[in-house]
Amino acid sequence: MKRTLIKTAINSDSAQDSILVKGWVRTKRDSKGFSFIELNDGSCLKNIQVIVDESCPAFALLEAVNTGAAVEVRGALVESPGKGQRWEVKASDLVLVGEAGPDYPLQKKRHTDEYLRSMAHLRPRTNKYGAVFRIRSESAFAVHDFFRKRNIFYFHAPIITGSDCEGAGELFSIAAQSQDSDSGRDKKTAQSLDFFGKEANLTVSGQLEAELFAQALGGVYTFGPTFRAENSNTPRHAAEFWMIEPEIAFADLNDNMDLAEDLTKGLVGHIMEHCAEDLELFAKFVDKELMATLENIMSGPFVRLPYREAVEILTGSKEKFEYEVAFGTDLQTEHERYLTEKHFGKPVIVYDYPKTIKPFYMRLNEDDETVAAMDLLVPRVGELIGGSQREERLEVLQRRLAECGMAEDSYWWYLDIRRWGTTPHSGFGLGFERFLMLVTGVTNIRDVIPFPRTPKHLEF
Ligand code: 4AD
Ligand code: MG
Repeated sequence: MKRTLIKTAINSDSAQDSILVKGWVRTKRDSKGFSFIELNDGSCLKNIQVIVDESCPAFALLEAVNTGAAVEVRGALVESPGKGQRWEVKASDLVLVGEAGPDYPLQKKRHTDEYLRSMAHLRPRTNKYGAVFRIRSESAFAVHDFFRKRNIFYFHAPIITGSDCEGAGELFSIAAQSQDSDSGRDKKTAQSLDFFGKEANLTVSGQLEAELFAQALGGVYTFGPTFRAENSNTPRHAAEFWMIEPEIAFADLNDNMDLAEDLTKGLVGHIMEHCAEDLELFAKFVDKELMATLENIMSGPFVRLPYREAVEILTGSKEKFEYEVAFGTDLQTEHERYLTEKHFGKPVIVYDYPKTIKPFYMRLNEDDETVAAMDLLVPRVGELIGGSQREERLEVLQRRLAECGMAEDSYWWYLDIRRWGTTPHSGFGLGFERFLMLVTGVTNIRDVIPFPRTPKHLEF
């Protein structure tokens, strides 16, 4: 007999004489002559109620069926007399597939996020984290769907690279390990240069490679893990995070802003449509303003604001900031949140940043002082997207590399693409976890990553 997912059973149009469900016991309540089991299989937020009475041959087994145990239930899908769910399963047989002792760590009471972080192997079995990771999965699908409909191709950027895209030196180096058999025991020796013949590191961004492919396929996007050794222990930074990086040929900064706005709305809209039940949990227990925030994102155009004006707004405001702002300083999260949450009350795209605070690859503006950069700021999260129009002029790019103290020969291929049919082109990076924080209202990036990697944390 084929297994039915609990999601399907719950949404059934009719009663069924025989059904097989499998899942993990969330709770069990015993009454005289029968027991109620709340069963969840991860397919949706809701549990299905299973009733086992004395007529069921497995009734005697129930003693060993605790919270956390895995079970298989055969029975009939019948109308539930209770108010909550339409359907429940009246068991004719129950098999205990995997036991869980009474010391199972996720008993019924609510646990703190901190406690659950120390239980990253079990937390997806809670309502909240089940919902987070279903939304994460659906969001990934939405990303591919969005670009596919626009003829923008999925491009796999390398994870191991020999360059530093952001030029910020926040790299994890990689090395091969060799077994040194001469010493009595296996001694692992790191060989950094021997394997590739040069220094290698984990990518901080797939942008540079994506630019090369955009110059052939027209429009591409990356969607994969990226790594940063920045030692900032904040609720918004992780050492390993996923980034979505579109890169489009024949596109200027305005086209880039349009795409960033469309993508953000497209993803938020997709999740509102397809994950309504899971979102409700966050709106109820995590962030009461969540639905208003999401509707606000969907409702009107985003603000587009030159950096210079952003600085004027910030210096002119009465808000007490921890960090001072002036032309030439990078905006901190407190400034970003002030602009998007308080001043405008909607998403804001800040553009034309000073060249001194942005990477070498951004296109230099006429004023020689600013570059065609853009950051999309959203409520709660601050910077969701960072991107720019790229410098497509060979000589200007060479000059910028030198100004930024970067060696030209390491980037010969990046320069070379400017020699052969160079085009104005643009792209950006959207932090996937930051998006998940926005759409769920979860405030710590560690809680939207299955196994988060942050400074001093690599338990799993
Ligand atoms: O602004 P960033 O550093 O831009 C780039 O890496 C560009 N190469 C992207 C491009 O133009 N193709 O990073 C882009 C986004 C940020 O806006 C933020 O959402 C996210 O990536 N991000 C992080 N997310 C989690 N943890 C970190 N340590 C992050 N660093 C950046
Ligand atoms: Mg940035």
